[in-house]
Amino acid sequence: MVEMEKFDAVIRGAQVIDGTGSAGSLMEVAISGDRIAAIATLENAQNWLGKLEIDASDRVLAPGFIDVHTHDDNAVLATPTMPAKISQGVTTVIVGNCGISLAPIIDIDPPEPLNLLGGRDQFHFETMAEYFTAVEAAQPAINVAALVGHSTLRAGIMDNLQRTATGAEIAAMGERLAASLAAGAIGFSTGLYYKTAKAAEMAEVVALAKVLAKGGGIYTTHMRDEADHIIASLQETKATAEQADVPVVVSHHKCAQPANWGRSEETLAFIEEARGTIKMGLDAYPYAAGSTVLDPDFVRDDIRIMVTKSEAYPEAKGRDLSDIAKEWDCSLKDAASKLAPAGAIYFQIDEDDMQRILAYPPTMIGSDGLPHDEHPHPRLWGTFPRVLGHYCRDLGLFDLPTAVHKMTGLPAATFGIPDRGVIREGAFADLVVFNPDTVKDLATYENPLQQSTGIDYVLVNGTLSLMLGNLCPDRAGQVVRNA
Ligand code: ZN
Ligand code: CU
Repeated sequence: MVEMEKFDAVIRGAQVIDGTGSAGSLMEVAISGDRIAAIATLENAQNWLGKLEIDASDRVLAPGFIDVHTHDDNAVLATPTMPAKISQGVTTVIVGNCGISLAPIIDIDPPEPLNLLGGRDQFHFETMAEYFTAVEAAQPAINVAALVGHSTLRAGIMDNLQRTATGAEIAAMGERLAASLAAGAIGFSTGLYYKTAKAAEMAEVVALAKVLAKGGGIYTTHMRDEADHIIASLQETKATAEQADVPVVVSHHKCAQPANWGRSEETLAFIEEARGTIKMGLDAYPYAAGSTVLDPDFVRDDIRIMVTKSEAYPEAKGRDLSDIAKEWDCSLKDAASKLAPAGAIYFQIDEDDMQRILAYPPTMIGSDGLPHDEHPHPRLWGTFPRVLGHYCRDLGLFDLPTAVHKMTGLPAATFGIPDRGVIREGAFADLVVFNPDTVKDLATYENPLQQSTGIDYVLVNGTLSLMLGNLCPDRAGQVVRNA
C-alpha cells in the first residue's frame, strides 16, 4: 500500500503561474503551516492528502497579489478583515505611501493630506514599533509592510511646514526614520506635491534618504509635479536616488492634466534611461482618473471632478463638483472650499498614457485606494481584477504571466519582501486561485463599492481567507519587516 503524505492543504489541478513571469504549468501545490511544502505534477502527487483539498481545475493559481501603493495604514486596524483587498486576491499591502504614514506621530490634528488616513484619534503611535504591535494585535487578514512618510516626520518635528527643514530638524527626522527602519519599516516615502512637503528642498530629502542607505530600504515618491514639470520632477527623483545611493520607486506614474496627455512616451524614455544607471521602479493603477483630497488649488475647469466625501456636506459624495457649483451658483474653487475637508476623483489622465505606462515591463500594480472615502475611487475594490480581466484578457495589453508578475514577483523583488510574491517550495503560502476567463472588476465611478468576480480562493500564510468569493473568519496576516 502506498504511504500517504499528509499536508494541511492541497490545491489540485491548477495552472500554476509562479510570479516570476514564466509561463504557467499544471501542478499540484501542498501547504504545511504557513509555507508551501511541495509542488509536483499530478503523477508525483498521487499519495498526497490535504486536511483541506481545493479543486482548482480550470483555474489559475498565482502568488497572492502585493498592493505596492496603499493608504491602508489605519484600515488594517479599523477593518482587519480587509474585504476590499482580500476579495481582489491581495495578500500584502504596502502602507505609508505619498509621504503620509500613521506612525511615528502623536497629538496631531492631521493637516491635508495626512487626514486621508483618519482624524486626530487615529494618530496615536509615537513609534513604528508601537504601530506594528497594534497591527499584530488587530490581526488583519493581510500582510502589512510599512513605509515611513516624510510629511508625517515633518508634521511631528517642525512647527511650520511652509519652509525647508533646518539641520537640527533634519537630524531629528532622521533619528525617527532610523528608529522606524530598525523596527522593521521597509522604506521612506515622500509626497512633495503636497503642502505638507512642497517647501522641502531636495537637500532635505537627500539627507533623509541617506538614512535609508544605512538602514536598508527603498525610497518611493509622489513627485513634486506630475503635470507640466514632470520631467524636472523625474530628474529630481533620479538625482535624489543617486545622491543618497538608494533604490527609488516613482509612485502612481501618470502625466496629469490635458496639456500633458501623450507625454508618457517622454517620461518612460526617461525612466528607461535612468534604469541603466540606478535602481528606479514605478507603479500605476489601471484607471484614467486619480483621487486625493479636494483642495481648491487642485481644482481646474478642463477636467471632470467628482466628490468622494465631504465633512461639511456629506450628501455631496458621488456628485460632480461642477453640478454642485452650478447649484450653489459659485465658482468651482469656492464650491471646493465650502466642501472641505473633502476628497475627490480627478479625471486628469489620458487612457492611452495609462495603458502605455501599465504595459511598460517594469511597471508594478498599486491601487492607491483610499479606504476612508465614502464614495471612493473604484480602484479601491477593482484594481487587480481590472488588470487581469480588462487589460490583460480583454485588451491583450500583456500576457497573463506578465500581469501576475507585475503584482507579485516584481514588487517582492523591488521592495525586498522575502519569500513572497512567488510560488516555490519554502515560500509563504500567500496564494490566490482565480478564473482567468471570468475575473472582472465591477466597481465603477458611480457604484464603487462592488466586489470583483472571478477570485475564488485566497490563502494568506496558509490560512484560507476567501472561499468561493466569501470572506472566511480566520485572519492570518503578518507584519512584513525589513529583513
Ligand atoms: Zn500619491
Ligand atoms: Cu498615494
